[in-house]
Amino acid sequence: MMDAIRKRRSIRKYKSGKIDEKDIIEILENAILAPSAGNLQSWEFVLVKTMEQKKKLADAAFGQDFILDADFVVVVCADQKRSSMVYGERGYELYSIQDTAAAIENILLTVTEKGFGACWVGAFDESMVRDIINCPAHVKPVAVIPVGIPDEKPNMPERIPLRRVLHWERF
Ligand SMILES: Cc1cc2nc3c(=O)[nH]c(=O)nc-3n(C[C@H](O)[C@H](O)[C@H](O)COP(=O)(O)O)c2cc1C
Repeated sequence: MMDAIRKRRSIRKYKSGKIDEKDIIEILENAILAPSAGNLQSWEFVLVKTMEQKKKLADAAFGQDFILDADFVVVVCADQKRSSMVYGERGYELYSIQDTAAAIENILLTVTEKGFGACWVGAFDESMVRDIINCPAHVKPVAVIPVGIPDEKPNMPERIPLRRVLHWERF
């Protein structure tokens, strides 16, 4: 897993190749092992593989057309109501999003371990994505994740060094 953490990159170029549905299901089986507030698991996944839906998602993502070349696109959503039933406002606004973010990282690391490539796409018109996936009002689309066979090997974008972001005891 340490290896996957270091190897993972945002991949935005995919080869035409077919990822088995079985692999995508295994990836999502790992997604649901993520921690969640009160174990409420406020995630929902919409799996997209048709060109018709991929085109609409790429448009909603302001023309990020690399989405079209992915074999599958996972739209990860937060069921804000599920978390708010127990945790009120904090569940609605924060925990449900954090639950999905943890699930998303599990997806990205599992994709890496399988030798596939993915990218966390967060820049999209939310109301367009809602329409495309028929999203209920209490559910919020959080990320669009294209998954495919990598056709690039990007270097790691520079990180702000730990010493700049680490604070002992207080800021
Ligand atoms: C919340 C969030 C939103 C992002 N949105 C996009 C996006 O819309 N399009 C894109 O190409 N990459 C997007 N990324 C990927 C980042 O650009 C990428 O993670 C960052 O540059 C570091 O590169 P790395 O993932 O290879 O380490 C997003 C990442 C996060 C966490």
